[in-house]
Amino acid sequence: MLDLAQRPRRNRKNAVVRAFHRETWLAPQHFVYPLFIHDGSTDVPIASMPGCSRLGHDGLLREVAAALDEGVRSIVLFPAIAEDLKSKRGDEAFNPEGLVPKTIRRLKVEWPELVVVTDVALDPYSSDGHDGIVGPDGRVLNDETVEVLCRQAVAQAEAGADIVAPSDMMDGRVGALRRALDHAGHTDVSILSYTAKYASGFYGPFRDALDSAPRFGDKKTYQMDPANAREALRELALDEAEGADLVMVKPAGPYLDVIRALREATTLPVAAYQVSGEYAMLKAAAAHGWLDERRTVTESLVAIRRAGADVIFTYFARQAARWLNEEAGRRHPTSGGSSSR
Ligand code: PBG
Repeated sequence: MLDLAQRPRRNRKNAVVRAFHRETWLAPQHFVYPLFIHDGSTDVPIASMPGCSRLGHDGLLREVAAALDEGVRSIVLFPAIAEDLKSKRGDEAFNPEGLVPKTIRRLKVEWPELVVVTDVALDPYSSDGHDGIVGPDGRVLNDETVEVLCRQAVAQAEAGADIVAPSDMMDGRVGALRRALDHAGHTDVSILSYTAKYASGFYGPFRDALDSAPRFGDKKTYQMDPANAREALRELALDEAEGADLVMVKPAGPYLDVIRALREATTLPVAAYQVSGEYAMLKAAAAHGWLDERRTVTESLVAIRRAGADVIFTYFARQAARWLNEEAGRRHPTSGGSSSR
């Protein structure tokens, strides 16, 4: 027998003891549910994201109702825009009768308390497939883009968006958005900044979903190099100074160290985005029977929370919330339930 004063396994000996000191909680309230929409009446499944579709008008309402039922109370909208509405400058982005503003108004009639997050970036609207305006020499123009982003965010706020989320990585956009929103009377609309958004291969399925892949080049002059963590702290300092309300790291799973670094450096809420490629990997492996979907999805989400994220953007939001509710129901049967389980 080993002579051990410390046997950490004693604290893992059964479920009750393990529950004493569980450090990280996952609950439906932590999730933001990303939804793809298009201007149509049918739902069009996305091949590389099994379980996700470009939702039509009715499909969206059904999906939101189902998510609310599971306790997921925030969504973020990503529009697939018809090719003939795309342009070099992406002007459709601030059309008050465009797909996103119209959709927000419809959702707010149905559920005023639903928290609607919007994406502020030009890629769905750009005939070049870039997040900003491409100049004659092929460079993505910063200040000209920020002007359009301000008009886009104000149009979203007018329609009832609760939180605008700039995902474009242009310099100075948080401060400019804050001023534009305030000037238009939207001092209560929050800014969730994609503070550290990496130039990642894990966005592939998302770009399929929206037909929004860059038509040339890549996004490396605005999105960050995956090799860099200190640079994320520089972006954080700027976003804080410019008035961000929440800061985000994206992708999530491969960047847990960056989530932790932001958590330790700021008092602002930290969000993380489990992106389309992270979703696709788990779905594909589960479909082959190579991974247990429920266990690995839950584990991936707990890991993001453990790293320090308060909020998680995830395509698993509705499904994960259902699992969590099932588990809670099993553990704490309601008074109406059977006590003789
Ligand atoms: C673009 C945007 C992207 C995502 C969210 N907003 C893609 C990109 O930057 O190319 C990716 C989300 C995902 O992969 O799930 N503004």
